[in-house]
Amino acid sequence: MTKLGLCVTGSFCTHANLLKALDGIREAGYDITPIFSFNVATLDTRFFKQADFEAKIVEKTGKIPIKTIVDAEPLGTTRPLDLMLVAPCTGNTLAKIAHGVTDTPVTMAVKAHLRCNRPVVLAIASNDFLAANARNIGRLLNTKNIYFVPFGQDSPTKKPNSLVCDFSLILPTLSSAADGKQLQPLLLR
Ligand SMILES: Cc1cc2nc3c(=O)[nH]c(=O)nc-3n(C[C@H](O)[C@H](O)[C@H](O)COP(=O)(O)O)c2cc1C
Repeated sequence: MTKLGLCVTGSFCTHANLLKALDGIREAGYDITPIFSFNVATLDTRFFKQADFEAKIVEKTGKIPIKTIVDAEPLGTTRPLDLMLVAPCTGNTLAKIAHGVTDTPVTMAVKAHLRCNRPVVLAIASNDFLAANARNIGRLLNTKNIYFVPFGQDSPTKKPNSLVCDFSLILPTLSSAADGKQLQPLLLR
């Protein structure tokens, strides 16, 4: 069974998309270890009460999420996983990964995993990816072992700087990344 780390960050408006995609991921036979950013581990928002969202993740993965840097640190050499998925991945977390900042359970898990030369898949969702964070996407497109779930503009007129991935493409992106390949086409219309 392929061991998958599922890092969840604070794109709260896309958490429902993740929950929908999780059923297929589970059915495909992945053994899923959830990891929450500090914000996902603590914040109630207009989309979900934190406890309700966590309960759904526990129900769909069968595991209690990792919520501390200390508990995420072994996900490198001590307790290795095969693949690491960040879904959804905020602009905040992507910027940190691009610059080697490790100050949340998610960035710790990604760093530990990359250290072992294993693939990381980013499922991005943010309204600043064609603005402040565009340079960081460019940086990670050119970084070894980083793969993207294909993404596109979700609302070009109303949110011209926003990019969101297609959550239904997480599964094929994971398969490609496991083979060392970026799923194409990367850019969706
Ligand atoms: C209701 C709500 C929705 C948000 N949606 C997004 C989003 O879709 N994408 C994003 O990059 N940030 C979004 N944010 C902002 C992030 O939660 C914020 O940048 C946070 O610091 C991210 O931390 P994390 O990446 O460690 O989870 C949202 C915040 C709130 C309160």
